[in-house]
Amino acid sequence: MNRSSSRSSARDLERYAGLFASRTRVMTSSAMRDLMAITERPEVISLAGGLPDTSTFPPELFAKVTAQMAATVTARALQYAPTEGLSATKEVIAEVMAAEGTDGIDPDDVLVTTGGQQVIDLVCKTLVDPGDVIIAEAPTYPGAVPAFSAYQADVVQIDLDEDGMKIDLLEETLDRLEAEGRRPKFIYTIPNFHNPGGVTMSLPRRQRLVSIARERELLVLEDNPYGLLRYEGEPLPTLRSLDGGDFVIYLGTFSKILAPGLRIGWAVAPRPVLQKMNVGKQGADLNSSSMTQLFVAEYFSIPGQWRAYLDSLRELYRGRRDVMLEALTEHFPPEATWSVPHGGLFLWVTLPDYIDTTDLLARALQENVAFVPGRAAYLDGRGGSSMRMNFSMVGDADIREGVRRIGEVIREQVEFYGTLTGTHRAVPPPAEPAPAEVDPALADVLHLPRREGERGTGSSSA
Ligand SMILES: Cc1ncc(COP(=O)(O)O)c(C=O)c1O
Repeated sequence: MNRSSSRSSARDLERYAGLFASRTRVMTSSAMRDLMAITERPEVISLAGGLPDTSTFPPELFAKVTAQMAATVTARALQYAPTEGLSATKEVIAEVMAAEGTDGIDPDDVLVTTGGQQVIDLVCKTLVDPGDVIIAEAPTYPGAVPAFSAYQADVVQIDLDEDGMKIDLLEETLDRLEAEGRRPKFIYTIPNFHNPGGVTMSLPRRQRLVSIARERELLVLEDNPYGLLRYEGEPLPTLRSLDGGDFVIYLGTFSKILAPGLRIGWAVAPRPVLQKMNVGKQGADLNSSSMTQLFVAEYFSIPGQWRAYLDSLRELYRGRRDVMLEALTEHFPPEATWSVPHGGLFLWVTLPDYIDTTDLLARALQENVAFVPGRAAYLDGRGGSSMRMNFSMVGDADIREGVRRIGEVIREQVEFYGTLTGTHRAVPPPAEPAPAEVDPALADVLHLPRREGERGTGSSSA
């Protein structure tokens, strides 16, 4: 894509400014998605995206599924569908949830959506008025940030540790909010192989979270794209299965166990909430693609197929995770720490607080390597010394090389800090690392200061 034509000039913005809704003033673009455009260049090793490796899906299998669709359901595939989704797809969803231990889902409690992303949007559309509180984890899924900000939510973030959201802190926060007369509209959590934190919520914390929700009559949005991508350890019960369906809205998706290009996800929610979400979806897109819903149904009807493919993904990603962990040990300085994910696609690295990963990214891009800077996962400006790294999309050699290059730019900064504070002896003599030459488009994405004479677009990102 021609970048200059896709960016708005100051004059364009002036022309339309008076027409924009007030919510657009607080709407933020996902830094992650902006970054994806910048890291598309083939020479860049991107550890930034959250992409599954779709090159593993056999083209013969794709041809078989689509040929079967052509032979049996062409007219339906080309037709509108009910807003709640096609029953064949909803039955598959109940089967997938049962495979993770959430048994007995009634297909009537399912809303098929355009990716799991739409569930986040519809939950906000259904529950959130401007100024309402949403509780989320710190860090949280960077892709949720534009949805939360578009609905003008006041997002309160609760720290994570290796056992997931700190429930003590959650309770303190809920008490404080109650004292202020503010009732959160929902608690947003990614219990399995957190994006971006890489951690998994322990069973005792799951149980406490569900009982807190019940006692205080609060809704929980359980976002679970990665639960079936477990590489070690025993599966833990979903919040939905612990709760039985009164206070948990469950978000699932085929993006990571099959393919994100299908854009098929789902919500399972208490009926009154589901009905409002259904109305919200009617206004958004009438229904999710009939064609890809039928692709899902057809694919899952092939005996043994989906589980075999999932097994192959688990094996591949487990290996890539291990390569990344080894490379981090080899190339990152001892000042860095990282999560060791038992599944999913990401790990989260924390650097000393004098390193700003947004600046570091500009420097890393000069070395043709990318990651997601931690600030993208916070709505309150924190996360400046952390970064998310993805291990599912690129092969072993690129993971090693990407980590090596990032390790080098981190060491450069650690060394520079050491020379300033006298804690390291620098050989050769201290020299400030050359300031990164930053592409103006990237400067927008990263909120970097502009040099004299450069004009900004005023665009913002998470
Ligand atoms: C935590 C989380 N939630 C939701 C999504 C949205 O996924 P999709 O819309 O592709 O189903 C993602 C995608 O990466 C994710 O990581």
